[in-house]
Amino acid sequence: MRTTTDHPTATMTAVVADRYGPPDVLQATRLPVPVPGPQDVVISVRTVAVTRAETAFRAADPAFARLASGLLRPRRRVLGGTLVGVVTTVGVDAAPWRVGDRVVARTGLAMGGYAERVRVPAGNVVALPDDVTDDDAVAVVEGGLTALPFVRDHVRARPGMRVLVNGAAGAVGASVVQLATHLGAAVTGVCGPAHAGLVADLGAVDVVDRSRTPLERLTGSYDVVLDAVGTSSPRACRHLLTERGSYLTTVPSVGVLVRTATRRWERGRTAAVAFTGLRPAPDQRADMQVLVGMLRDGHVRAVVDRSYPLAEAAAAHVYVETGRKAGSVLLHP
Ligand SMILES: NC(=O)c1ccc[n+]([C@@H]2O[C@H](COP(=O)([O-])OP(=O)(O)OC[C@H]3O[C@@H](n4cnc5c(N)ncnc54)[C@H](OP(=O)(O)O)[C@@H]3O)[C@@H](O)[C@H]2O)c1
Repeated sequence: MRTTTDHPTATMTAVVADRYGPPDVLQATRLPVPVPGPQDVVISVRTVAVTRAETAFRAADPAFARLASGLLRPRRRVLGGTLVGVVTTVGVDAAPWRVGDRVVARTGLAMGGYAERVRVPAGNVVALPDDVTDDDAVAVVEGGLTALPFVRDHVRARPGMRVLVNGAAGAVGASVVQLATHLGAAVTGVCGPAHAGLVADLGAVDVVDRSRTPLERLTGSYDVVLDAVGTSSPRACRHLLTERGSYLTTVPSVGVLVRTATRRWERGRTAAVAFTGLRPAPDQRADMQVLVGMLRDGHVRAVVDRSYPLAEAAAAHVYVETGRKAGSVLLHP
């Protein structure tokens, strides 16, 4: 039997976008509280991340975002894919969850988190320990779900390895710096002057101020250059790589996609993009559990830039689109 604390005709505040466009297409409105399928839970959202992918979906920029979110208008009116909240309704087949459980969740491409309630498949949910805060859990999971598979599976970070991280203060970059350091690699972080202290605190052994030393002028020899924000290219970083070094990026370009498919670049070097944020739900759930455990045990920390009330989602999108945020930007319904 389905258990719930929500009234069957209850409504909720949600932020919707009915067309593609600038941040002010995001409008607060009232919608019916979602009803879960048999294997879903409904969560009362307490905090939800505003991500670069979501600003791209809202703006349909780059244009291929329309392939995932609707050719003419957004198929998913409510954005928001990484959130923490409390379970209010449990589908008939959504064990082991119970009403009142505090959880972190990924909605997948269904989104829906910019709202007071969201429906999530039960398999996309992980329980939170009491000593982990809502905001910290969302921030660590937002960057970490992309960064952990990069660092563990693609970089294979280990002691003795030298890793250069471009975009080291962003949500993904800040997580890469911490996770690669935790696994024993010596990390050099590239960021602007405002974020140098943060990147050093996250564990980087060296910090490069990109306003003084662009990557083209940087010297050094790295086993891996990981571009977390996609502002460089294999060519611009070639001189920084060892003879068997790898260039990895989170952001596709035609050149990198070709090199990823052919697994070749030049001599022993490789260049590749990975879409680690789009892995199957069971893999993401396992990694959410790893990340929550690392947060609880003090092996990673959350980086939260700022938070907004849900009704100010448009202002949050304006800020995220500046490309200047450090770590995560959050909404509080
Ligand atoms: N492949 C995947 O599976 C996947 C998953 C998630 C996200 N992504 C993509 O990864 C990218 C990064 O996401 P994110 O959330 O980490 O971004 P973010 O948090 O918005 O990154 C902002 C950071 O970028 C730095 N930055 C701005 N301009 C820069 C430049 N020209 N060169 C170097 N750094 C610059 C800024 O710090 P400073 O000014 O201090 O440098 C700022 O801290 C996005 O494009 C996103 O779509 C990919």
